[in-house]
Amino acid sequence: MRHLLSAADLDRAGAVEVLDVAARMAATQQREIKKLPTLRGRTVVNLFFEDSTRTRISFEAAAKRLSADVINFTARGSSVSKGESLKDTALTLEAMGADAVVVRHSASGAPHRLATAGWIRGAVINAGDGTHEHPTQALLDAFTLRRHLVGEDASGADLAGQTVAIVGDVLHSRVARSNVLLLHTLGARVVLVAPPTLLPVGVGRWPCATSYDLDGVLAGDVAGPLDAVMMLRVQGERMNAAYFPSRREYSRRYGLDARRLRLLPPHAIVMHPGPMNRGLEISAEAADSPRSTIVEQVSNGVAVRMAVLFLLLSAASGPASGPATEIAKEIVP
Ligand code: NCD
Repeated sequence: MRHLLSAADLDRAGAVEVLDVAARMAATQQREIKKLPTLRGRTVVNLFFEDSTRTRISFEAAAKRLSADVINFTARGSSVSKGESLKDTALTLEAMGADAVVVRHSASGAPHRLATAGWIRGAVINAGDGTHEHPTQALLDAFTLRRHLVGEDASGADLAGQTVAIVGDVLHSRVARSNVLLLHTLGARVVLVAPPTLLPVGVGRWPCATSYDLDGVLAGDVAGPLDAVMMLRVQGERMNAAYFPSRREYSRRYGLDARRLRLLPPHAIVMHPGPMNRGLEISAEAADSPRSTIVEQVSNGVAVRMAVLFLLLSAASGPASGPATEIAKEIVP
């Protein structure tokens, strides 16, 4: 794999490999000295045209823990606000010798353009493009699911037999799209739960079930007992019309609160990619409950992005001895 643009770029073996390497990376992050020499001399550029807190910081931490040089580029305060095009920005990065470009853009397809236009030689990683995809978020969610539902030592395992509900603003969510693709690849069953106005046209062709009935799904009446429920942020900034009558009505029908939490099987976990609208899609009791993995998802994000950077950049330079996982074993004993 040269780039990571979509969760669909990974087949089952490729996805499990990322999760296995991430588990090794996570183990190194328990050590007193967290930095590994693996990507010394390589340059990773964080190219963020859209606001972000955790994803940008997470990629920065991941690259730095692997000893890469990191250049942070945010559109605000750069020449982009003077009208510079994606192409000219890319040519500048290429001239600076970027080995990997992590890109977030409000336009769906921007990372794809960057990867295929021939402007840059480095690996392109999609860190969220419009309402399209966010593959590293899906990988860190899969990593979190595997840890909790399969076990700490789940090397080689996928998510076969697990059932995950993804709830809320599916229409505007790149997290939902990437998760449906990756969870399907990993053998899990997915049910999307949303009001009809917040489900995309054509969702019937996605490899998942859909429902408008959150209580029924949580109680296991629709897709069987759940192993996890993933709440999505209501993306007000992408809404140019009224998609639901009021905030109150939305949380009454689709918000996860203490009562709904009790409908879940005891082992099921509660996820959210962040940032949360507390009191809208998720109540404080649900967000802070012992079954919430929301904070853990953030720390798992660093290990997963270390794995992605490692696998892409080691493949780019040609593995010295066998497949990337073998090198990972040598580098991360
Ligand atoms: C998500 C995003 O930006 O796509 N956040 C994230 O990366 N952690 C989800 C969101 O903004 O709701």
